[in-house]
Formats: sequence, structure tokens, C-alpha cells
Amino acid sequence: LSAALRLGVAGLGTVGGGLLKLLAEQGKALTGRSGRKISVVAVAARDRKKDRGVDLSKVRWVDDPVALARDPEVDVVVELMGGSEDPAKALVEAALAARKPVVTANKALIAHHGVAIAKLSERHGTPLHFEASVAGGIPIIKALREGFAGNRVDSLYGILNGTCNYILTTMRETGRDFADVLAEAQKLGYAEADPGFDIDGIDTAHKLAILASVAFGVPVNIGAVHVDGIRNLSLDDIRFADELGYRIKLLAIARRTPHGLEQRVHPCMVPNNTPIAHVNGVFNAVVVEGSSVGRVMLEGRGAGAGPTASAVAADIVDIARGVSLPVFGVPTANLARLPAAPTRRHQGAYYIRLVVLDRPGVLADIAAALRDAKVSIESVIQRGRAPEEPVPLVLITHDTEEARMTRALERMVKLDTVTRPPTLIPIEQL
Ligand SMILES: NC(=O)c1ccc[n+]([C@@H]2O[C@H](COP(=O)([O-])OP(=O)(O)OC[C@H]3O[C@@H](n4cnc5c(N)ncnc54)[C@H](OP(=O)(O)O)[C@@H]3O)[C@@H](O)[C@H]2O)c1
Repeated sequence: LSAALRLGVAGLGTVGGGLLKLLAEQGKALTGRSGRKISVVAVAARDRKKDRGVDLSKVRWVDDPVALARDPEVDVVVELMGGSEDPAKALVEAALAARKPVVTANKALIAHHGVAIAKLSERHGTPLHFEASVAGGIPIIKALREGFAGNRVDSLYGILNGTCNYILTTMRETGRDFADVLAEAQKLGYAEADPGFDIDGIDTAHKLAILASVAFGVPVNIGAVHVDGIRNLSLDDIRFADELGYRIKLLAIARRTPHGLEQRVHPCMVPNNTPIAHVNGVFNAVVVEGSSVGRVMLEGRGAGAGPTASAVAADIVDIARGVSLPVFGVPTANLARLPAAPTRRHQGAYYIRLVVLDRPGVLADIAAALRDAKVSIESVIQRGRAPEEPVPLVLITHDTEEARMTRALERMVKLDTVTRPPTLIPIEQL
């Protein structure tokens, strides 16, 4: 057996606690797989007195997490505190500078500072692993960095936020509205007290920026991701989607287009007969289309102590085995400068839900707005009659360009029969 691999773990919350538990339970197996004993020698968190549900009597407590990077007894730094700035950033930078391999679950850090950190990793010849930062227990970074190395990836999409998927699934299954289901998710611990990061799509955008970098060999660029969350979705949309043969999912999509690399996070209509339409509850899924392998889908738990610790443990085993790979699959000097595709050039079909006053000629006015923007209509659903009352009007368009939809909507909102801002949801023919 080679010398033991000594870990310094910063952060003992859901993931850190989960990792310590996993190491206690699977320690022997991990040693068998990597040929080295793996032990936690030092830990850091904010509150020393908090009961973590794991035995910390044999590990050293360090008040300043950044000190783990300088600790002579620590070989590998495991950063599980979170946050795109210090102390997480300072710890990761100091560890790499001290030539200590780093494992992190921190998507915000990688999404905002990925390229600079990758350069640091290269400069010091020290590996950085971040499997747990995207899709929890699904080994998607490993799949992209290693398993897909023989492919040109043309598109990648997925459900990357369990909280949003839980909310959308529960709304559909129970017929309850967004606010009600969100409150329940918070009570069950599936959603944070401040749910903005999840429901506004930011968490998903962080993950997409990371996946796009590894899949397409481009610099991580969170600024290039177009983001829209699920806050404004109504039960009506979910019901109409059902009726039309779709499910609404918050998708993260990265795709090569003639106008550059498209990176989008927003609610989508996905056909009911696709596998991703049936990824429900807190589950995540990622679909990758590779030039040689074709379509591959991975599904699993995207969060929680066990699944996330599973991904962190895999990274630790890689380090114990001496695996060292370029952070984003290619050396930073070779990252491709693909232009970002402007959203107005996005091509696809759309679902539009309007609330209009039931009055003769309304449909003709809406149709004219679409015709003048050169958008053609595939189908219309108009339900019930209530003269002079607001009623829903749903339209499905043929494939068009987003700029044309924007023009048509601008016309529609000016009609005095249109009583509320329209809801626009892209349809993805996956
Ligand atoms: N939860 C998941 O399912 C999941 C999934 C994938 C990725 N991640 C990522 O994993 C990371 C950790 O998430 P988590 O859910 O485990 O978070 P968490 O439960 O809030 O735990 C965070 C831990 O970091 C410690 N910490 C925070 N700020 C600190 C500071 N300034 N100095 C020292 N310690 C500090 C906290 O200390 P105290 O306990 O003393 O307060 C706590 O132990 C994040 O990057 C997150 O995005 C989480």
C-alpha cells in the first residue's frame, strides 16, 4: 500500500457531512480501489459546537478554512463550503498554489472563476476535480471529459435542478399552484428559504456553463447563458401542455448553431414521448449527443448528502490513483473561442398563452400580428365562451426565429383585447 492520502475538508454541511459518513462506511472499498488508505485529518466549518452526526474526535478542527491549504499534514483539499467568493475561492487558489490537489462541489465558484482556476491548476501541475458541482450523483463531468473524448458534441441538454423539477412535477400531478407547491418544498427541505437561486434558474445556469465548457471545449462563460426561471409558470400552462402532448421542464440547453454556441436555461415544452419528459420529482438527467456515439442519457439524483458525496468520493479516488486531466478536458490554451449565439436568432416553435377578452375579431387581430411578423400558426385552442370576459387563448406556432416572435408579441400586447402579458414557452423537439 502506498502512503495514506490525507484529506482536509472545509465545509461540514449536507455534502461535507455526507462525505464523512461515506468515508466511514466505504473506507475499505475505497482503499481497495485506489491502493491507498484515505483519511480525513483536518476539518473546518463555522460552528465548532454543531452536532454533525459523525465522529470528529480523531480529526483536527481548523478555524480558518484557508489554513488547510498550508497545513503540512493535508495532501488534498476538499472544498464543500460553497459560494463563488472567499473563503472558498481563496482556499482553492491557495491549495493549487501549494500543489495540493483540490476536490470541490462548488458550481458557483467554477461558473464564475473556472478559467482562472484552471490556469492555476495547470501552472502548478495540480489537479482540480468538480464532479459534484453538476447533477449531484450523476457522473456527467467524468462522462464528458473521458467517456466522450472521441466525439464532437453537437448538443447537450438536461434537467439540472431537482427543486424546480420537483415543483413542476408536483404542480402537474396534484393540480396545485406554484406558490403552494414551493411552500411545501421548503417545508420538506427540497427548496431553500431563499429559493431564488433555484427557481430563477441561476443554479441551473451555473451548471450549464460548466457542462458547456467541458462538452464543447470553450471557456466557462456564465454571462453567455440566457436565463429564465419557473416563477411565472401557471397551472394553466401545465394543463395546456398536457392536452397538447407535452410536459413543461426547466431545461438547460447548449447547442452548436450556425450563429455560434447557444446556451439557454428556461421552461420548455418537451414532447411527452421523449425520455426526459418522464424524469420526475427531484431527479436530474443529462442528454448528450456525440458525433460518434449518438445520444446518451444519464439520469439520477442531482442533490442530497449521499448522491453528492458519491461524486466527491469518486474525485478523491481519482486523485488517490494519480489521475490528472485538463480541468475542462483540454488545456486552457486550446479552449475554443466559439461566438455566443444571440437569443434573437434562436430557431424553434413556440407555445403562446394569452388572456383575451372574448369579443368578435380578437383571433383575427392576433393572427394578423403573427402574420405580419412572418410567424405561421400550427394550432389554436380556444375554450368556452364568455362574451366580454377574459378567456385563455393558446397558440402553437411552426418553427420560427425568436426575433419574429418578439415582434409579434410586441404587437399583441398593444391590443386592448389582450388583458395580460402573454406567456411564451419554446417547444423543444428533442
Ligand atoms: N446540498 C447538495 O445537495 C449539493 C449538491 C451539489 C453540490 N452542492 C454544493 O456543495 C457545496 C456545499 O453545499 P451544502 O449543501 O453542503 O451546504 P451547507 O449544508 O450549507 O454546508 C456548508 C458548510 O460550509 C461551512 N461554511 C460556510 N461558510 C463558511 C465559512 N465562511 N467558513 C467556514 N465554513 C463555512 C458551513 O459551516 P457551519 O456548518 O458551521 O455553518 C457548513 O458546514 C456548495 O458549493 C453547493 O453548491 C450541494
